[in-house]
Amino acid sequence: MDVEGAFFWGAASSAYQVEGSFDADGKGLSVWDVFCQRAGSIRGGASGERACDHYRRIGADVKLMAEIGLGAYRFSVSWPRVIPSGVGKPNAKGLDFYSRLVDGLLGCGIEPFVTLFHWDFPFALYRQGGWLNPDASKWFAAYAAAVADELSDRVRFWITINEPQSFIIDGHLTGVQAPGDRMSTAAAAQAAHHVLCAHGRAVQALRDRSRRECRIGYAPVGMVGIPASEGEADVEAARRWMFSMPGRDLWVNTWWMDPVYGAGYPEDGRRAMGADCPAVADGDHKLISRPLDFFAFNTYLGRYVRADGGGQPEVIEPKPGHPRATTGNPLTPACLYWGPLFFHRRYGLPILVSENGMANADWVAEDGRVHDPQRSDFLRRHIRHLRAAVGDGVPVIGYMYWSVMDDFEWENGYEQRYGLIHVDFQSQKRTAKDSAACYRDLMQT
Ligand code: FCB
Repeated sequence: MDVEGAFFWGAASSAYQVEGSFDADGKGLSVWDVFCQRAGSIRGGASGERACDHYRRIGADVKLMAEIGLGAYRFSVSWPRVIPSGVGKPNAKGLDFYSRLVDGLLGCGIEPFVTLFHWDFPFALYRQGGWLNPDASKWFAAYAAAVADELSDRVRFWITINEPQSFIIDGHLTGVQAPGDRMSTAAAAQAAHHVLCAHGRAVQALRDRSRRECRIGYAPVGMVGIPASEGEADVEAARRWMFSMPGRDLWVNTWWMDPVYGAGYPEDGRRAMGADCPAVADGDHKLISRPLDFFAFNTYLGRYVRADGGGQPEVIEPKPGHPRATTGNPLTPACLYWGPLFFHRRYGLPILVSENGMANADWVAEDGRVHDPQRSDFLRRHIRHLRAAVGDGVPVIGYMYWSVMDDFEWENGYEQRYGLIHVDFQSQKRTAKDSAACYRDLMQT
């Protein structure tokens, strides 16, 4: 398929959440392998040790993906699988796994979208200071180069880093995710700065090493403001809410996006952070803002925003009884209209929805099938809004449903099912859910 003008319908996963085989074939430990061993860290005492056993089942899993009609599969590479201690000699068996996965996908006409980092940081490097170590970005660039050397003759779409907000805030500030640290805001902001530098160096490594023309993006959380009404004041309030940083809350867009797209850290954010702003070396901003080819973002919900009496953005909560996923996330399909629109207007690139999905109370029914009408409805509504954005002139290159199959959902263990494919975690039996058929119809029409 020619890339220009193409639209990719896909589904996503990440290495630690599906692969299992945590110590197979020379793989090193990641911070998640270690964090899950800590008593009380994960619901039900679960871990990704086995997860979906995807590592040993890629043949059958890829076939299933083809059967449900996916045009793209977004997966991540496990850094410690490829370079067991994070730096040094790559592990041929680890690289070979991803190489076989890519071949399997291409053989079925499924486009691989490869994420380099989806939170499973090498434990050996964590012991050397992790993201706080000023060398972290160079470690990451060397890893990116090793992956590019192996896969870039076939892979055309790359994503450097997934949701830096999540692993910095949840992993390094509140400690509810791996590595479970509770740093000061200043330290977390410094670690975050190194993450942005790592992104920039990885972009450079991919451009330098890629053996074919490639498209590179970065997938932060996209916090989407949905105007409470179509009135101009509410639309402007939603836009302002999305692109301002009034306090020190790091769950914002601009802190993580403006530097990457060339504007540096936002001024309001720098003011709010004060002395906790990271130290920025000469050349860092140039490094961080290497040009990208598309603007990716992950979104699971939008926030309704209206203009208050003084025209300032005010978030309003959904009404009691508003439809919600089993995680409590409200159903807000308009996030796929306003998100692409506002992000495209501000950052100017074609849009990729790199994650969007919902958890549901799915089980295998007596008839042997998995009926999940809520997810089908979720898909139809979200895709309708995305289509409206395209209709209003926003270029969109793809939509990746999260997730391709039920998986290990971080600190929530196996209690949240997001997949298009149901997984019985005892037998590892896969069952395509009704929503997979619905998604196939939507993709075809
Ligand atoms: C996102 C993560 C992804 C998954 C979904 C539900 O924040 O990127 O790994 O857990 O949430």
